Amino acid sequence: MDERYQLVEGPPSVEDYVALRASSGLRPKRLDQAAAGIDGAWAAAHVVERSTGKTVGMGRCLGDGGWYFHLIDMATLPEHQRRGIGSAVLSYLIGTIDAEAPEGAFISLLADAPGRPLYERFGFTDTTSLGMALRRTTPATR
Ligand SMILES: CC(C)(COP(=O)(O)OP(=O)(O)OC[C@H]1O[C@@H](n2cnc3c(N)ncnc32)[C@H](O)[C@@H]1OP(=O)(O)O)[C@@H](O)C(=O)NCCC(=O)NCCS
Repeated sequence: MDERYQLVEGPPSVEDYVALRASSGLRPKRLDQAAAGIDGAWAAAHVVERSTGKTVGMGRCLGDGGWYFHLIDMATLPEHQRRGIGSAVLSYLIGTIDAEAPEGAFISLLADAPGRPLYERFGFTDTTSLGMALRRTTPATR
C-alpha cells in the first residue's frame, strides 16, 4: 500500500461499512445490522484515501482474546483493489493477534474466491472441517 492511503485502527463508520460491503460484492447488510455490530469486533482496521478522506478498505477480527480469532469483512472498493490495501489490513490484523494473544492462536476465515490468493500468500491453508452456516434471512438480505 503506498502513500496515497492511510491505515486507521478501528472499524469504519456504519455508513462506510454498509457501503464498502455492498460495493465490494459482499452480501449487503442494513444500517441497523451494522450499527449493532460495528463495535463488536476484537480488532478492526480501515483504510482511507488521503486525498479524498474516503474509506476504501476494511477488515475486522472476531476473537475471544485467547486463541479463537476469526477474520471477517475483508473488503476493498473495486477501483482501489490490487494496490496492497487488503494486504495491509490483513497484516495489521494478524500482527495485532501476534502481539496481543497468547501463543497458539487459531486464525480462521471463510474464504470467498477473490480473497483466496491473498490469504494463501499469508499462509492460510484449507481446513478439513467444512464451514457451515445458519442464515436468518430477511427480505432485505435474502
Ligand atoms: C479480497 C480483497 C479484500 C483483496 O483486497 P485488495 O486491496 O485488492 O488486496 P491486495 O491489493 O493487497 O492484494 C490483491 C492482489 O493484488 C496484488 N497487488 C498488491 N499490490 C499491488 C500493486 N501495487 N500492483 C499490482 N498488484 C498488486 C497482490 O499481490 C494480490 O495478488 P494475489 O491476490 O494474486 O495474491 C478484494 O479483492 C475484495 O474486496 N474482494 C471482494 C470482496 C471479497 O470477496 N472479500 C473477501 C471475502 S473472504
